[in-house]
Amino acid sequence: MTSSQTVLVTGGAGYVGSHCVAELLERGFNVVVLDNLRQGHRAAVPAEAAFVEADLADTEALKRTFAEWKFDAVFHFAALSLVGESMRNPHAYLHGNTVTSLNLIQAAVQAGVGKMVFSSTANLFGMPERLPIDEDATIDPGSPYGESKYMIERALHWADRCHGLRSACLRYFNAAGAHPNGLLGEDHYPETHLIPLVLDAAAGKRPHIEIFGDDYPTHDGTCVRDYIHVCDLADAHLRVLPLLEERSVRYNLGNGKGYSVREVIEATERVTGRKVPVKVGPRRAGDPAVLIASSERIRKDLGWEPRFPDLDSIIGGAWAWRQRNPQGYRGPAALAAE
Ligand code: UFG
Repeated sequence: MTSSQTVLVTGGAGYVGSHCVAELLERGFNVVVLDNLRQGHRAAVPAEAAFVEADLADTEALKRTFAEWKFDAVFHFAALSLVGESMRNPHAYLHGNTVTSLNLIQAAVQAGVGKMVFSSTANLFGMPERLPIDEDATIDPGSPYGESKYMIERALHWADRCHGLRSACLRYFNAAGAHPNGLLGEDHYPETHLIPLVLDAAAGKRPHIEIFGDDYPTHDGTCVRDYIHVCDLADAHLRVLPLLEERSVRYNLGNGKGYSVREVIEATERVTGRKVPVKVGPRRAGDPAVLIASSERIRKDLGWEPRFPDLDSIIGGAWAWRQRNPQGYRGPAALAAE
């Protein structure tokens, strides 16, 4: 795909989406971001990208967007994405994530767009029977969130079979870190993700970090996750595009190395030089004990390699961004950078 092409990025004001927008712009693509700004941040979208404030539930807005631009590909990030929340409100995920994605797929097909890169998840693998988890592992989603992503993967499968819409389903393990340019980082409201919360505890903005369960069958009893730098995820999105000329693909994306919750806390203490107060609480519903990716397939097919695999550097980048933007995107440093 050449750089004169135009990509629609849904959820491009969100965490992973905004890092992909930066990568697309850097490589010369024209970018249109569509985001309802319920979780995303306008300040995370650079001025070089066109911006449409709309919800994917609004089919008229979708029609207008696809009529206004001719897209060569769609990157689809917009979704509810919290495992724990989905256990409390499954309908919002099973209905909301799927209906909005079906609207998008339909609009893309009607507009004759041939390629979609879809933000899928490691939560497809609820109770993995072997580690690391490759693409042939049994799919048994760990939560309604994971299930909703799987339903969308299936819709994309049929969109290819029936309409020739090629797709790449990228199953992210735990996205983490911040853009080295210092302008983009992780800022959810309310924040529920481990690394930003541990950093807040290190900064004294929270009294402590609560560990959700220390009785899992892991080496220290806390859950193990594969933390992958958000820019490495972004890089994978760009690399799969040429392949979509030929076929649909699905790839698991992680570093292939797992860290427990306690190890993340220890790494944060090392990186920040501060003590992180800890309390142990009960397990959080929907959390599998261990998720570690095998990304051999994308390495072999596309030569993808994580550029930032080191946990301390991932946490260091996230810390630098939070130090610079103590109020996240609502703070003055980020607003000045707009
Ligand atoms: N955790 C705590 N305390 C906290 C927050 C999290 O102990 O205050 C633990 C969780 O129980 C889990 C680990 O830290 O074991 C990581 O939790 P996150 O909430 O940061 O991330 P999840 O693993 O729940 O989910 C993330 C994304 C999902 C994606 C999944 C894939 O939010 O979208 O990674 O592994 F599906």
